[in-house]
Amino acid sequence: MKVLLTGGTGYIGSHTAIELIKLGYEVEIMDNLFNSKIEVLDKIAEISGVKPKFYEVDLLDKDGMDKMFAEGDYDLVIHFAGLKAVGESVEKPLKYYENNVGGTINLLECMKKHGVNKIIFSSSATVYGDQGVAELTEDMQTGVGITNPYGRTKYMIEEILKDVAVANKEFEVTILRYFNPVGTHPSGLIGEDPNDIPNNLMPIIMKVSTGEIEKLKVYGDDYDTVDGTGVRDYIHVVDLAKGHVAAINKIKSGISIYNLGTGKGTSVLEMIAAFEKASGGKKLPYEVVERRAGDLAEICANPGRAERELGWKTELTIDDAMNDTINYLNHLKEK
Ligand code: NAD
Ligand code: UFG
Repeated sequence: MKVLLTGGTGYIGSHTAIELIKLGYEVEIMDNLFNSKIEVLDKIAEISGVKPKFYEVDLLDKDGMDKMFAEGDYDLVIHFAGLKAVGESVEKPLKYYENNVGGTINLLECMKKHGVNKIIFSSSATVYGDQGVAELTEDMQTGVGITNPYGRTKYMIEEILKDVAVANKEFEVTILRYFNPVGTHPSGLIGEDPNDIPNNLMPIIMKVSTGEIEKLKVYGDDYDTVDGTGVRDYIHVVDLAKGHVAAINKIKSGISIYNLGTGKGTSVLEMIAAFEKASGGKKLPYEVVERRAGDLAEICANPGRAERELGWKTELTIDDAMNDTINYLNHLKEK
């Protein structure tokens, strides 16, 4: 099976490429390299033994996309490409709607023109908005109470995919709602390496540990959670990557939606403690500050559907994620 990964040089795409190549899939990657580096292709080759064919194309470049699809003869697309900085999306909403929603429309048009009917889409737990409960299941209503344009692009794309699947009975769509991806490949060769200043917890912890950021700001310790700090369902990126393989195996006509998470929540202070443990007890400087606008106290996946229907569940722990992250940071230092 020949699979195109849009955004495949990015964090989750590159880990998924490795899992697919390991299982014998033919993988090609397209990316505009806005938030990833071309060197990732060599790292994928070093780990998996195969360097995927690469197209430096933008989702918004209709001609470039058309040419790639004409050459590619793909069986399935995993659509990772998109902008994901929540804060920036509030400042520049049109950029996000154009890139994420407009780019997806271009992709779907190309797929239709070239007879590619299978797509797996990288969605997010953010589409659930605020449900008033911590544990989220796929049949909950989505789209209400999303606090930023990035999240709304995910919701809008999900709705577009549902409409396209109604219009085209041949279409096979799987929406994967990721919870909070963390960790890196155990080889230490690839991981999350944002081109910009990060705003998610794990990349910030990494930059605090290297001294690039002075201290971690813990956004609030007065939530109704285990220790007052925010609780999230952190999933190891290698488990997440394997979720895509499981989804390919079970893709079917119409729309299927799965949460990819562990089902277990971890607080910010617990994440700090786990990182300190993995770094041999070295303290991570932090201070508690005001809550961040739009944050919820606790978000956790109910991953039951993915386990029942895809035969997938997570195997790695927060400690695995932290150990792999330290290994990756050590590799970066050696460069
Ligand atoms: P990433 O930024 O590392 O990877 C996304 C890739 O898409 C980047 O390499 C970027 O250069 C590329 N890209 C962006 N716009 C493009 C365009 N117009 N044309 C071509 N390439 C383009 O992000 P990631 O963490 O690997 O996330 C992958 C997907 O998963 C994204 O859609 C993201 O929204 C979604 N997601 C991520 C998280 C998370 O916390 N990492 C959580 C939920 C959902
Ligand atoms: N946090 C801090 N300090 C920081 C950054 C984060 O205390 O500097 C806390 C947050 O308050 C939250 C937790 O760490 O309690 C996780 O925050 P992230 O920003 O890493 O993740 P979120 O759950 O807020 O959001 C992320 C993505 C969204 C996505 C969502 C679910 O940013 O786009 O996961 O997938 F929708």
